[in-house]
Amino acid sequence: MAITLKYDYSASRKLISNEQWSQVHQPLLAARDEAYADISIMQSGSIPADKDPLDAGFINYPQNLLDEYARDKNNSLVGRMLTSAEILKSQLDRLVVLGIGGSYMGLRAIYEALFNPYHNELDRPSRGNIPKLSFEGNNVDNDAIAALLSLLKTCDDPQDLMKRWGIVVISKSGGTLETAAAFRIFREALENYYGADSKEAKEFVVPITGDVGKLRDLSNLKGYPVTFPIPDGIGGRFSILTPVGLHPAAAMGVDIVAMLEGAASMTNLVKTADLGQNPALDYVAVCHIMEKAHGMTTRILSTWGKKLEAVGLWYDQLLAESLGKEEKGAFPLTVVNTRDLHSRGQQHQEGIRDKIITNVIVEQSTHSDVTIPQVSDPQDKDQLNKYAGKGMPEVMQAAIKGTNKAYADVDRPTSDLMIPKLDAHALGELFQMFMLATVIEGRLLKINPYGQPGVEAYKQNMNAILSGKM
Ligand code: PA5
Repeated sequence: MAITLKYDYSASRKLISNEQWSQVHQPLLAARDEAYADISIMQSGSIPADKDPLDAGFINYPQNLLDEYARDKNNSLVGRMLTSAEILKSQLDRLVVLGIGGSYMGLRAIYEALFNPYHNELDRPSRGNIPKLSFEGNNVDNDAIAALLSLLKTCDDPQDLMKRWGIVVISKSGGTLETAAAFRIFREALENYYGADSKEAKEFVVPITGDVGKLRDLSNLKGYPVTFPIPDGIGGRFSILTPVGLHPAAAMGVDIVAMLEGAASMTNLVKTADLGQNPALDYVAVCHIMEKAHGMTTRILSTWGKKLEAVGLWYDQLLAESLGKEEKGAFPLTVVNTRDLHSRGQQHQEGIRDKIITNVIVEQSTHSDVTIPQVSDPQDKDQLNKYAGKGMPEVMQAAIKGTNKAYADVDRPTSDLMIPKLDAHALGELFQMFMLATVIEGRLLKINPYGQPGVEAYKQNMNAILSGKM
């Protein structure tokens, strides 16, 4: 299936001179080519110091997974994920997914984008027989952990499907304190529930982790029958389309093959298309020129509707950890409109001119239109009869157009990332586009987009404090 996503930057382009646009053209193509050439450098095993670490494995990974699936079917990684997912989906009523950062944000983005916002509140048939989903291990918040534990305590019959729950624990390093502590806590609850030596206490825990590390060691010791790898050469925030995001998404019934196909198509397009027809290059060009020529260092991802907020938070991490280095890198901020027009809109319209806005717009609603009802005359005190019969999508369109016009009228740059229909394929396209754009921008800025050395400082201090050494 072809690429469905469109990036319309015409409003921003009006604020960019032809000279600025053409000046960035060749450097951008070179940065794109460097990003793709990094794959061979990584595979050669001899990585120059200025490129270390190099985690370009995410670029071809979706296509590689699809090829292996076509060749080896059920024995491929995708095939094995689908088999495990089917077992979890049919035998559990709740999945507790433990992970943080790149081992958490991606699945949350997929879940919020594709699922009914009241999924966990629906009965099982209304959920399409798909388990409820709960996230933990993404904080050390006592009350949040206690609340989930006490919810799980209401499960009183491990033989009853409606009372069965399991754990997917995700950590590449296997040593992240938040996830490791949560795993110990929820594993104890699970073993108390099913019995420490029971078949269920093994089968209903699926670790997803690197080849070496504490979680891998623990998994081997416990003898969990199904585990999935997190490949070397793919960093946490680039791992959404590895088992990290794909396995639990599949256990929630998401079409992960379509998601991989969307990503693989985007990889090809970005690799071959020139500036002007290449959403990743065009996006980087607009953002880069606005940042360098006009000091617009705040990059706002303006999501319209509620489903894409977590996609925005995933992107916040991607941009912040990839480019927030050497005292450089734009500041990412996700907003959800029209909600945040009532909190941040004032500043975006009249505040410091340091913001570039990328709207993310889903063109087709999942549900049929909800309309504003007509009421009889005396009740029209709210004076909404003039809009009676209009659906929420029409109101949303008016809000988007009206907001873009308000910004354009005062020379504030916007562009629109259009998603005709929000499904697994489109999400695959979107994730891959943003990951590629981030790496290309890093290469353009001469910032290594891989690795996140700055995150270590807090971890070392926290561990030293907990061990009484600080
Ligand atoms: O992007 C990253 O690498 C980080 O956000 C990690 O994903 C996060 O720190 C969790 O690490 P791990 O998967 O090793 O537990």
